[in-house]
Amino acid sequence: MTRRITFPNDFTWGAATAAYQIEGAWNADGKGESIWDRYSHTPGNVLNNDNGDVACDHYHRYPEDVSLMAGLGLQAYRFSTAWPRILPAGRGAVNEAGLDFYSRLVDSLLEAGITPYVTLYHWDLPQALQEEGGWTVRGTAEAFVEYTEAISRRLGDRVKHWITHNEPACAALLGHLEGSHAPGLKDLGLAVNASHHLLLSHGWAVPVLRANSPACEVGITLNLNVTVPASPSAADHEAERQGDGRWARWFLDPLFGWHYPADIVADAIQLGALPATGMTCVWPGDLAAINVPLDFLGLNYYFRNLSRSRTVDELDNDPPNVFQAPRTPYTWTEMPWEIYPQGLYEVLMRVHLEYKPRKLYVTENGASFSDGPDAQGRVQDKRRLNYLRDHFAAAHKAIDHGVPLAGYFIWSWMDNFEWGYGYTQRFGSVWVDYATQQRILKDSALWYQEVIAENGFEVEEKKKLGN
Ligand code: GCO
Repeated sequence: MTRRITFPNDFTWGAATAAYQIEGAWNADGKGESIWDRYSHTPGNVLNNDNGDVACDHYHRYPEDVSLMAGLGLQAYRFSTAWPRILPAGRGAVNEAGLDFYSRLVDSLLEAGITPYVTLYHWDLPQALQEEGGWTVRGTAEAFVEYTEAISRRLGDRVKHWITHNEPACAALLGHLEGSHAPGLKDLGLAVNASHHLLLSHGWAVPVLRANSPACEVGITLNLNVTVPASPSAADHEAERQGDGRWARWFLDPLFGWHYPADIVADAIQLGALPATGMTCVWPGDLAAINVPLDFLGLNYYFRNLSRSRTVDELDNDPPNVFQAPRTPYTWTEMPWEIYPQGLYEVLMRVHLEYKPRKLYVTENGASFSDGPDAQGRVQDKRRLNYLRDHFAAAHKAIDHGVPLAGYFIWSWMDNFEWGYGYTQRFGSVWVDYATQQRILKDSALWYQEVIAENGFEVEEKKKLGN
């Protein structure tokens, strides 16, 4: 017994990538060094010392990639522009060759009937700015406005969907507190300053985008996974408050008109990361700038997170948790992340009810499975297909319950450089042979083609007890 799920008529189906993860050409045609070039070129930072020097060579192969997308009927493509391609020194002189590349890419997409959604910042800060303090200093937010001005002045006549930042939480916390992302710092005070300047740069960039891109829509993308205490203990509930506070409320609250969450500020003061006077990096008018009206909120969802009052090492040695599915190849991805489609519904409903964005997009959702070509050259990635189908169904349930979800971008269009994991994780619906740069549409891409064409899909009706 099956039933059909159909999405709203104007729903947008897309796929997402990011510059550093797919472009390669890391120092071609005048591009400046980024913090990810520096970080990945530093031995020990990335698995197998992989880097994005070549990646999927999308900088040269974009015509082939766009043609594959068009063949699949993709309606939209979310990609990021590399700041160091546009302003190699982070500010000042514009690199016309960099602008020309993105202009050609946009024209190729439009000619193929694919709508471009452009993310301005997906973590590849110009290294020259990092040497002045990077996101921990206010000057980088000012430089971001210069970058926004240059790229939107060139593309704003054709690009009408802009995302200022991708996952500022990762840029701030993974890059400045956990040290597992570029620039590899481990200081809560620096992470707080970086998070504020990332959000401030967003607020300052929105009016620039609106001025240079008439009738555009502008948003920001946050990563919001479900976080639940790993046990009923007070310690694990406290871990959940801190985790959700740092990764979700810290960014949602200022964007939607509140202050930075007082409990998290108090935590940072208690830890000595902030002075007793609080966040000295916040100047008068900053919060008003950050609370600029948003046309949409982009939401990246992947998995359910358990909050435990444990160290990372203890976490790794923890016995399977009763709150999570046992680890099997069909209940966890290879990252490993728990497969929890219901969490997408929960996160969408939470944001909708608590923050009321005008519109939402799922700007990333996908799974890492390493299924590769079989003897016939076919990639039977059934687990990814199941993952996407179940998360699409969860998103549809949220729409049914009133969430203004306007579109969905799978992560990722193609296998690519997965940050600290290098090329050991494959999220793509297109297989990439990094040695030959051959692309192969996986079964999940062929299924996605049908979903897009039919704006929906069939699901197995769960048998109710007794029948
Ligand atoms: C993120 C980034 C992507 C990742 C993807 C898988 O959400 O972390 O936007 O660049 O590759 O999420 O980890």
